[in-house]
Amino acid sequence: MTQTSGPLLELTKVTKHFGGVRALHEVDMSVHPGEVVALIGDNGAGKSTLVKIVSGVESPETGEIRVRGQSTRLESPRAAAEAGIRTVFQDLSLCDNLDAVQNLFLGQERHGSAWSGRRIRRHVMEEQAQKVLQSLSVKLRSLSTPVVALSGGQRQGIAICRALISDPAVVILDEPTAALGVSQRAEVLDLIRRLRDQGRGVVVVSHDMKDVRQVADRIVVLRLGAKVAEFHRGGYTPSDLVSAMTGAHEPSDDEDGRS
Ligand SMILES: Nc1ncnc2c1ncn2[C@@H]1O[C@H](COP(=O)(O)OP(=O)(O)O)[C@@H](O)[C@H]1O
Ligand SMILES: [Mg+2]
Repeated sequence: MTQTSGPLLELTKVTKHFGGVRALHEVDMSVHPGEVVALIGDNGAGKSTLVKIVSGVESPETGEIRVRGQSTRLESPRAAAEAGIRTVFQDLSLCDNLDAVQNLFLGQERHGSAWSGRRIRRHVMEEQAQKVLQSLSVKLRSLSTPVVALSGGQRQGIAICRALISDPAVVILDEPTAALGVSQRAEVLDLIRRLRDQGRGVVVVSHDMKDVRQVADRIVVLRLGAKVAEFHRGGYTPSDLVSAMTGAHEPSDDEDGRS
């Protein structure tokens, strides 16, 4: 794992309420280059709220967000993208009737000059699509098949590759293996490892403890809006995760970083 510099993304004491509901309370989280951080917690723990905050969809009431050490306000999804943070939401937001290339460039099409034809732009986009798909070893029989005809793993692959078109430093994945079969799940875990090997910071929200244990370098546990535990690879047992999530016992400090 390469951790030559400080964190790519760092949240300090981030708090957010919805009406009277405490969604997040003074939550700290960071992700370094070449690191996979898993965010786990029961329903209502605050995972989606945290993802929305770092995606620029919601703003925190208090607390600080730093990107590469610089204090930042991620006021919109565009601002988050410009800061190098891209999110793949659970619904993937793919257009079923469009092909892989069209989906990859959806909303970020390469515009040719006024006199260059449509075919030229398509050619440029196809070349770039090939490159980004290859970088994650996403295999498609054809670039022009409507994505509705592809497997769940391939669709997740395309959604992740779309996030990579702008070469983000941080990629956030919301439940990337939910609703996938065993082999496609393994495929997606491989994609996550490749993102890490490319030196990106990866944040994965997941319900699946097995997936989390396989892929996470660090695990942040939220419960009722608060961060209740943090575990490092090799420094926890499966039951530690469950107890932290359910509040069965509060882990002591020496469980953090044991390896
Ligand atoms: N837009 C919203 N309006 C009101 N309450 C919300 C909203 N979004 C989330 N919440 C509440 O905030 C808490 C955290 O929710 P959420 O971040 O979705 O948790 P998780 O993704 O871990 O299930 C929950 O109590 C939820 O009901
Ligand atoms: Mg959620």
